Parts: sequence; structure tokens; C-alpha cells
Amino acid sequence: MTFDDSKWVWKNGEVIPWANATTHVSTHALHYGSGVFEGMRCYETTDGPAVFRLEAHLDRLYASAEVHGLEIPYSRHEMVAAVCEIVARNGFRSCYVRPICYLGSGSLGVHPGNNPVDVAILAWPWAPYLGAEGLEQGVRVTVSPWRKFQSRMMPTTAKACGQYLNSMLAVRDAVSRGFAEALLLDADDNLAEGSGENLFIVRDGQLVTNDERHSILLGITRDSVLQLARDLGYHVEIRALQLADLLSASEAFFTGTAAEVTPIREVDGTVIGQGARGPVTEEIQSVFFAATAGRDERYKNWLHPIDSKPAETEAELLQKVG
Ligand SMILES: Cc1ncc(COP(=O)(O)O)c(C=O)c1O
Repeated sequence: MTFDDSKWVWKNGEVIPWANATTHVSTHALHYGSGVFEGMRCYETTDGPAVFRLEAHLDRLYASAEVHGLEIPYSRHEMVAAVCEIVARNGFRSCYVRPICYLGSGSLGVHPGNNPVDVAILAWPWAPYLGAEGLEQGVRVTVSPWRKFQSRMMPTTAKACGQYLNSMLAVRDAVSRGFAEALLLDADDNLAEGSGENLFIVRDGQLVTNDERHSILLGITRDSVLQLARDLGYHVEIRALQLADLLSASEAFFTGTAAEVTPIREVDGTVIGQGARGPVTEEIQSVFFAATAGRDERYKNWLHPIDSKPAETEAELLQKVG
């Protein structure tokens, strides 16, 4: 992953060059993780670039902000326009989009007082998070020695910056031991989720996944997969998942904006199913990618087209920012 192709950033209402998108070291969020963010993907579709599930991501962004008492100083309409503008301005046909709203500089009391809420939107090209090969062959994962924090400690359904230290501990441990990703258990020994993905298993031709009662972020990819799996005629059960369920599953996969739909082929040396992408996972992947590419009429309303023309020319913008 590199930011090399990303030339412009949207920050506090303006499009500015990447190099100027800085923040002061007294920023509250830098010290305490007091921000909320989203991760979405813009896909190249049959009708041009479009952001997948933009409205759902913005719903979650505003909900996360509310949980943490951050008042986003832009309307939804302005945020939609800003996301489209930054993708178009960078000239991307497909990319990852990262809006972040965070407490800026003002006070470093843990109680943030009247610190401003700063808002930025980044966009950059990002290949499948667990690798293109992982999408086809499946990935090897490990059960983390780190537990997923519980909602009684911090709401897991809000996507807040500071909570990612928990994910970081888990993924660093997993990668250092040669695995692609970590799976975290919740405080009651149920499976929660990956460091950045939700978990599905396939048993007896049915799908099973857990929900927020097991300390997960309610993923938007999870929601999309729930819908398209039901449309494909699969029964989906939502319940607690035990490690034994996963180890004896015929298939398992992760869902996430970054990881998309990635099969899990092995957990700590135990092969899942045939140790390769299974037929149900493959079918779900193919409908998912048809949806993201705008090739499936049923899911076209999940795509928000990018107006391909930015408001100003690059020369006008460069002149404005000096
Ligand atoms: C901890 C965690 N769980 C699940 C997900 C999947 O969520 P989504 O499908 O909305 O990207 C993510 C990624 O955002 C995540 O960070």
C-alpha cells in the first residue's frame, strides 16, 4: 500500500495538496485516540467509479461520532459531496476512501472541552487487504492471545480511532508468527472477529455469523453479505460462534471493506474444509463482486456514482492553495 498516487486531501471544507494535510502535535486525537472514521471502497463499475454503500458508511460515521460526543460540523449532503470530490479530484477509478473526524487542538484535558472537531477525507488505491492470492486461495489465521474489548468497556459498534490499538496488538502478534490475520475471542470465550473483519462460517450448507452481542463492529460488508446470501436462498443463522464451530466448519470467510470476502483456509494449523476457497464462499464472492462492479441490477442502489468532473480545474485549485 502506498500513498504515492494520492495528490489531494479534503480537509475542513477544502481540497488541499497531500503534503499540506497536516495537524498540530497538540491535537487531542493524537494523544487519546479521540476520533471516529470510516473505510469505504470506490469501485470501477459499468457506469464509472462509484462508492459502495456510501450511505451506510455515513450512517455509521455519524452514529460513531454521536457515541463519542463529536459533533461533525458538516451535513451528510456536504460529506457525500466531499467524498465524491476527493475521489474525482485524485482521478481515481477505484480506491479506498477514509473519512476521519477527530478532536483537534485546544485542550489536552481528557475531557475535551470545546476542542474543534476536524474532518478530513483521504483516498488512495488499495489492493485487497489480505492479498489477491488470499481472495482466491484463502488465508491462514491464528486465534489471538489478545481478547476483543467488550462494549461495556467501549462500544464495539462505534468505529473509533483509539480502539484500534486492540486490533493492532492482535494483528502484529499474528503476523509476527507467520499468519495473515488474527481472530479475537470475546471475554466469554466466543469468537468475536478478525482485527479488521467480521467472520462467517458455513455448516450444513447454511451460513452462521455472530452479532454485536459478541463484541463485533457491525460491518457493512457483513450486512451486504447477509442480504445477498439470503437472496441466493441461503439460510443465515445469527448466534454465538465457538472456536469448535469454526474448526469443524466446511468453509469460513472474513468480510470487510478492506478484505472484501476472503476465505479462511486454516486456523492455527487446523485445515478448514478442503483447505481452499469453498463453493459457498466462491458463490458469495462472485455475487459480491458483481454488486460492487454494478453488474447486478438488484444491488445497484448500493452504489453511489462519482460525478466525474471536479468543480475546479487542477490549475485553478493550485492557484487557490498558493
Ligand atoms: C474491527 C472490524 N471489524 C469488522 C470490520 C468490517 O467492517 P466493514 O465491513 O464495515 O468494513 C472492520 C472494518 O472496518 C473492522 O475494523
